[in-house]
Amino acid sequence: MTAFEDLSLAKLRGRASAKWTTYPADVLPAWVAEMDFPLAEPIKQRLRRAIDSDDCGYAHPTALPNAFAAFAKSRFGWTVDPSRVRSAPEVMVAIAEILRVVTKPGDGVVINPPVYPPFAMVIEEVGRKVVDVPLAHVPGGGWDLDLDALEKAFADGAKAYLLCNPHNPVGRVFEQSQLEAIAKLAKQYGVVVLADEIHAPLVLPGAVHVPFVSVSEPLGANAIAITSASKAWNIAGLKCAVIVAGSAAMQSALKALPIELTERTGHHGVLANITAFEEGASYLDGLLEHLDRNRTLMAELLGMYLPAVRYIPPQAGYLAWLDCSALGLGEEPAKLFLKKGKVALMRGLDFGRQGACFARVNMGTSSAILSEVVGRMGKALEKG
Ligand SMILES: Cc1ncc(COP(=O)(O)O)c(C=O)c1O
Repeated sequence: MTAFEDLSLAKLRGRASAKWTTYPADVLPAWVAEMDFPLAEPIKQRLRRAIDSDDCGYAHPTALPNAFAAFAKSRFGWTVDPSRVRSAPEVMVAIAEILRVVTKPGDGVVINPPVYPPFAMVIEEVGRKVVDVPLAHVPGGGWDLDLDALEKAFADGAKAYLLCNPHNPVGRVFEQSQLEAIAKLAKQYGVVVLADEIHAPLVLPGAVHVPFVSVSEPLGANAIAITSASKAWNIAGLKCAVIVAGSAAMQSALKALPIELTERTGHHGVLANITAFEEGASYLDGLLEHLDRNRTLMAELLGMYLPAVRYIPPQAGYLAWLDCSALGLGEEPAKLFLKKGKVALMRGLDFGRQGACFARVNMGTSSAILSEVVGRMGKALEKG
């Protein structure tokens, strides 16, 4: 049995993180994007070493740029100039601060709902205006970018675009030709693209992650990538993200970021990110094999317990975006799954109006726990 299968619910319930403490003990949590697996051994050892030497002070992330650049080269074939890399406490904090320096109050910022709920929240938090360019439905199922609508939003005056690639929650990995089209539009209309690539290391077999900056820079568009080891190595609580300026102009613009941004980064987050980038490849490869199997298992389980639910396996990550409209449970199916099935999922509507009748399920667990999650969803539909 692999470490990704050998999980104990009793042990997981001993965790104090949001996933395991938000709901009562009779509820099985499959909502927030935390995985249930043990940490990568090199990360555990690095953190233990820090604790054993009482090393809990402030971050000094001087080794992070080179570690990320080497990882980007080996994993994605992306050449990153380390002098263009800096750290931040989180991807979302980085996005908030970058929006403050590359846009003005009241400027329009484009997002593609259904999308990670904090995207709209962060734009409002910094006093900018959310411009929705919803993903389009693909005939036969699935979602994709609507480049015509994107161009219209840019032409109407949006100043920035928050691109989610790979996309949470729909699991799409956008193709090189799509990214090139975005970059050309961004250049034409003077839009800055903030590419959230936090799920990039989790691209699954069959898809290829193309870093947006690797496409936008040769085309002369302005972009900034924001990523972290936090999703793929499950270390979000340690608070460290990576910002990559995608052009000389963006590098210069980012000089206006608060100096404290680096100092506010979590010290253990920096240590764990460096270790993930330098020594985390074999863990990541094993994880991807497991997640690849889980996305197939999900289809089998749905066929068994909830055949009316529509599911397109994600191209990346461990999130299943389920269209429950045929179940007739109204706009918030997650409510019934929680009440009657005692399983906590993410509410589709939180990702935008387009998420009505959807629920998001976390597949970052063992096959046994995933089976229990979907089994409970099926039970919720039983009469009586
Ligand atoms: C697309 C996306 N961006 C950002 C985050 C959060 O990152 P952070 O905790 O570094 O802000 C998540 C978390 O799931 C996410 O899915």
